Amino acid sequence: MNEDTREITDIILAAADKARADTAGIEDPAPVAKVDWPLSCTVGPGLEGAIACESKIGYVNGAKGWLIYRGYDIFDLAAHSCFEEVAFLLLNGAVPSRSELAAFRRELNSFLHIPRTKRQLIAYPVEEMSPMAAIRFGLDLMRQSQTYRDAPDALPSGPPIASDEDSIPMETVPRGEQKAIYEFKGRAVKKKSRKAADASRDLLGAEDLESCCRLISGICTLTATVARVRQNRMPLEPDPDLGHAANLLYMITGRRPTPEEARIMDVALILHADHGMNASTFAALVVASTLSDIYFSIGAGVAALSGPLHGGANEQAVYMLEEIGGPSKVKPWYKEARAENRKIMGIGHRVYKAYDPRARVLGPLAEYLASKNKNIATLYATAKALETQAAADLGKDKKLFPNVDFYSGIVYAGLGVSPELFTPLFAVSRVAGWTARVFEYLQHNRIFRPRAIYTGDFNKRLKR
Ligand SMILES: CC(C)(COP(=O)(O)OP(=O)(O)OC[C@H]1O[C@@H](n2cnc3c(N)ncnc32)[C@H](O)[C@@H]1OP(=O)(O)O)[C@@H](O)C(=O)NCCC(=O)NCCS
Repeated sequence: MNEDTREITDIILAAADKARADTAGIEDPAPVAKVDWPLSCTVGPGLEGAIACESKIGYVNGAKGWLIYRGYDIFDLAAHSCFEEVAFLLLNGAVPSRSELAAFRRELNSFLHIPRTKRQLIAYPVEEMSPMAAIRFGLDLMRQSQTYRDAPDALPSGPPIASDEDSIPMETVPRGEQKAIYEFKGRAVKKKSRKAADASRDLLGAEDLESCCRLISGICTLTATVARVRQNRMPLEPDPDLGHAANLLYMITGRRPTPEEARIMDVALILHADHGMNASTFAALVVASTLSDIYFSIGAGVAALSGPLHGGANEQAVYMLEEIGGPSKVKPWYKEARAENRKIMGIGHRVYKAYDPRARVLGPLAEYLASKNKNIATLYATAKALETQAAADLGKDKKLFPNVDFYSGIVYAGLGVSPELFTPLFAVSRVAGWTARVFEYLQHNRIFRPRAIYTGDFNKRLKR
């Protein structure tokens, strides 16, 4: 255990103990041995309740307030792991050995360098775009430079393709060898087996894994680049001596974080890395299922995450707390909000009908940061008072509790990140789950094709 951050580990372990005590009476789910397709299930609008695929990557139990990655409890991972290890675990299906982790960290660190993409990105008026739009755009630029390698020997030779006057001129032929991931050297995702000891691991080929790592690191640097441009500052180069979370904070704020700050960011990245078949994961899978490429798939995930019903709630929660203005004003504000049937941001969840385990960790971490940082002390006190109000009403009557977004914005604000970057931070973490799930899905790919019930007319005629 790192002694510098022991207090943070203790906070997480205490949250874990409380979660286990609170949910001890709720029955554990039974493991699923085999799924017999096709299945019958009750489906609501928006595919609610529909089962789209099998997965060994992550599990959410809403009744118990459980979140599991590859068999490991989220509290265990938050207390004892780091984002790089969790990303490796999600992608490969097993925790890395010490040397594997060191190599994976070095690789992620080297892929934080995307100088060409950064140059191209800042040549645009990025500050006029929403951060999520800028990151999506940056992903397309990354795709171009990383999938069409610019090796001179790969440039097309011979005369321009021109069979008639309307032909597309030569310069539209992609430069370099195409490296879109599913088409690497004309093969699909590798299925070759590794050593017997590694049999439980998913079967990612080295090049496939490289693209995932490039995306995990790339979104981190894109986020920091967008942050710097919005601050009217030049983007920074990553520091090879810093871990992923510390580099993220360093490249955004320009200040090397303290070990405690870096650890809290690391924990936040772990907590957000995967969460079942949420909308952005599903969007990424839908695009991947067409055998489009991993960059487009992750771009779809980013686009879906940008919506306020998905990734944007923590930003809204902080604005709400600022609007309330202090713990003493919570009671009248809450009464009015409930009378007007307004949603309390950061409360309630589609899946969790118990306390969200991520909020169990982020709440005490927000408290820890608030005890050191006066700038967020009022925000935290307001949130705590609001939680008390909501627990006595929405918690008791409707089983609505704080979700991950209730405290995460306060944590990020305490780490010096401004609210418009909260959703990009979500993407910096969730890209690990998106890439892992895309590759898992592709091993048994079937293009997504749900149906809609046609409720329109049949017999209209044009009056012509
Ligand atoms: C997350 C959310 C969309 C889940 O929605 P859901 O499972 O579809 O829940 P519903 O919208 O069906 O709500 C069930 C009931 O609880 C109420 N409710 C749900 N969340 C509420 C909230 N945050 N504040 C007040 N009431 C809420 C609904 O109004 C509804 O009441 P009714 O039965 O009287 O109509 C919803 O809780 C919400 O909008 N929360 C606030 C936004 C947020 O924090 N999003 C981040 C999610 S991680």
